[in-house]
This record gives sequence, structure tokens and C-alpha cells, in this order.
Amino acid sequence: MSDHPTDRVVLVTGAAGGMGAQHARTLAADGWSVVLADVADATPVVEQILADGGRASAVELDVTDPARWESVVAGVRTTYGALHGLVNNAGVSRRLRFMDTTHDVWRQVMAINLDGPFFGIQACAPLMRDSGGGSIVNISSIAGQIGYFSPSYSTSKWALRGLTKSAAGELAGWGIRVNSVHPGLVGTPLLSGSDGFVTSAVASIPFGRMGRPDEVTAVVAFLLGEGSSYMSGGELNVDGALVSNGTYHRILTEMEGDL
Ligand SMILES: NC(=O)c1ccc[n+]([C@@H]2O[C@H](COP(=O)([O-])OP(=O)(O)OC[C@H]3O[C@@H](n4cnc5c(N)ncnc54)[C@H](O)[C@@H]3O)[C@@H](O)[C@H]2O)c1
Repeated sequence: MSDHPTDRVVLVTGAAGGMGAQHARTLAADGWSVVLADVADATPVVEQILADGGRASAVELDVTDPARWESVVAGVRTTYGALHGLVNNAGVSRRLRFMDTTHDVWRQVMAINLDGPFFGIQACAPLMRDSGGGSIVNISSIAGQIGYFSPSYSTSKWALRGLTKSAAGELAGWGIRVNSVHPGLVGTPLLSGSDGFVTSAVASIPFGRMGRPDEVTAVVAFLLGEGSSYMSGGELNVDGALVSNGTYHRILTEMEGDL
């Protein structure tokens, strides 16, 4: 697998918008054939990719539906004959505090953020094995590394980290690598309606700004490519040093250097 493949196929979930659309556009520009899977219509992104000379197709997929996963992968096998990459990117965030999280919200977030990647890995791994191996990238979050206030989001993203490490061991024998990416705060529709939260959160980011979708895409592309050939069960933060240094960045800023 080269970092600029010409005959490689990748499926990206949640690719109709936000970071998933950015991943799809960049991977297509890098030569991948991209299957954009989403509950929303990904056709506009596909049309843009085709207009730019890339290869892509859109498929309707609710990641919480294992039967639909099987039929989507069967379609990829028929259309492309192979699958080398899977980006489990689809996810939802409900910024509800612990006692405000209803059972329905809990179930919905777990279903999309955790069950979805599990079903996706189970459905895609056999075709990836038959394709000579490949790479799976699970989009977790820094909320999967710290005690984030929203329990459904945090728990689903911690669990996705565990799922990543479990799958990495199990699928190594099939030549499939599995890693997780942990974005910090990235400017996408996921954050819409939370301006106050974002402004306050940025004050804890040593880089002093949110991340851009393309800065996450670059790491996803690295994990899909040959440059990470000995990497599996790993995790990469893309967070402007928020997790490693956010607390003391805020403390030092508030103290204005007066230690
Ligand atoms: N934006 C951030 O700050 C941030 C930070 C850390 C992690 N993340 C994670 O990155 C990923 C992408 O986030 P984003 O900010 O681009 O979000 P977004 O809301 O902009 O896009 C999410 C996409 O997922 C799709 N989707 C939702 N439910 C689905 C389902 N059941 N089946 C298939 N598709 C579904 C939506 O239609 C949408 O196109 C998510 O997993 C999110 O948790 C985002």
C-alpha cells in the first residue's frame, strides 16, 4: 500500500458533511476510490470529487443497522472487488450533563458511536482480508481519554478506544491494522449551537484555537497509508496539546505568569 494509492478502496462513514466529507475529498485526491456512507445524502460531496477527477460513490447507511452494513459491503465487493480502508467516522454528540442524559439519548449515542464501528468492523474485515489486508481508523475523541461531562459521548468514545485495541489483536492475522484518532475541538457542524462552550474550551487549548478538519484528515490518511505499516492498536491525538497540557495552560494564563 503506498501513501498515494491508485487502486485502493476506502469506506468512510458519516461522509456527507463535517470531517468525514473532508476525509473523503482528500483521500480521493490522493488516489483512493472512496465509498461515502451516511444517513444523510452524500451525493453533493461525490459530485465534487468526480468533478475534480476522483473516484467516489455514495451509499445510504445507518451505521446502527448491521444488516445494512452487510449489504453495503456486498455492494462494495461487487462494484470495486476489494476494500483496503475503513474510517469509522460517523458520530453524534449530545452535550447533556450526567443527570440530564435520558435513557433514549444514552442508547442512541452508544448505538451510533460504538455499535456502529463494531458492526462496521465485523462487516468489512472479511473483505479487507480477501483484499490482502488493510487499515481501519476509528474516530474517537479526547472525550475518550478524560472525564468528559457528557456520559454517553465520553463512554462511547472510551469504549471505541477499547474496541480498537481488541480488534487490533484479533485482525492482525488478517493483515488488518486498527488504530484510533482523538480529535480535540474541531470546527464542524457537530459544534453548532454551542458557541459559549467553544469559546470557553478554546481557553484551555495551548494552541489557542480549534483544529481544522484537514488537520484531522492528515492523520487519518497517515494511518490508512504505508507510513504507519507497523502501527496497530495505537492512538493519536489531534488536539493542539489540550489533553496533555490544557489544565496548566489555563492555570498559567489565568495567573498571567505570576507563579
Ligand atoms: N467536531 C469535533 O470537535 C470533534 C471532536 C472530537 C471527535 N469528533 C468526532 O469526529 C467524528 C466526525 O464529527 P464531525 O464533527 O465531522 O460531525 P458532523 O456532525 O459534522 O458529521 C457527522 C456525520 O455523521 C453522520 N451520521 C450521524 N449519524 C449517523 C448514522 N447513524 N449512520 C451514518 N451516518 C451518521 C451525519 O449525517 C454527519 O454527516 C465523530 O465521530 C465525532 O464524534 C468530533
